[in-house]
Amino acid sequence: MKQLVRVQNFCVSRDGYGAGEGQTLERPFGNVDPGRLVSWAGATAHWPNRTDPGGTLGLDDYFTRDFSNNIGAEIMGRNKFGPQRGPWENHDWEGWWGEEPPFHTPVFVLTHHERPSITLGETTFHFLDASPKDALARAFEAAEGKDVRIGGGVATVREFLAADLIDSLHVAVSPLDIGAGERLWESPEALTDRFHLEKVPSPGSDVVHHLLWRK
Ligand SMILES: NC(=O)c1ccc[n+]([C@@H]2O[C@H](COP(=O)([O-])OP(=O)(O)OC[C@H]3O[C@@H](n4cnc5c(N)ncnc54)[C@H](OP(=O)(O)O)[C@@H]3O)[C@@H](O)[C@H]2O)c1
Repeated sequence: MKQLVRVQNFCVSRDGYGAGEGQTLERPFGNVDPGRLVSWAGATAHWPNRTDPGGTLGLDDYFTRDFSNNIGAEIMGRNKFGPQRGPWENHDWEGWWGEEPPFHTPVFVLTHHERPSITLGETTFHFLDASPKDALARAFEAAEGKDVRIGGGVATVREFLAADLIDSLHVAVSPLDIGAGERLWESPEALTDRFHLEKVPSPGSDVVHHLLWRK
């Protein structure tokens, strides 16, 4: 079966931003409260970080379950991995996610500043300076027949869209405006030359799920 390249559960504001300005260690999404963008997912029964029983079922929960369904590797940008810029001062930083990151697959972190791979729980982070096409070839191989998730951040999703390497996107649009920062799109309609677009309002939260798949 063809291995697909999927964007899953990417969260943007009504005006198309996936992160605000000024990312720091304390503010991974910059000057935006991530809860405003991802609360729909955090409320679901299958949210990977859920520590208590319960949570919502239905369409939002379907998407949190689908996050890892048949995914064999992820590609992410260096700014999703951490707030550092430029050459690594040291290798102390191992991502935001603690000892058991929620990926459970090889993860390829695109960066111009290479460093040794790290294994944390079931996730191994590899650091790669490569074009989208070459990074994808590495990720396909590591995924052993499964699909590859493009995990963000915004610049990385945009880069893979520009290279025309993405098969499908699920983008959850929340009803807030951010106004500045990292913008995925001015309008999802900009992608309808290449993708079908279906907008599905969630019956259980205030997000509108945007589903895009290739024409
Ligand atoms: N809304 C969501 O669902 C969501 C999901 C994930 C992340 N985020 C947020 O998005 C923000 C990060 O996004 P971002 O747009 O700033 O950056 P990003 O896509 O995470 O990372 C971009 C950086 O990755 C490196 N890079 C990208 N392509 C490369 C290539 N082909 N070769 C070598 N290096 C490459 C470069 O870093 P260097 O040159 O410095 O190495 C580049 O500056 C964070 O705030 C994060 O929390 C949001």
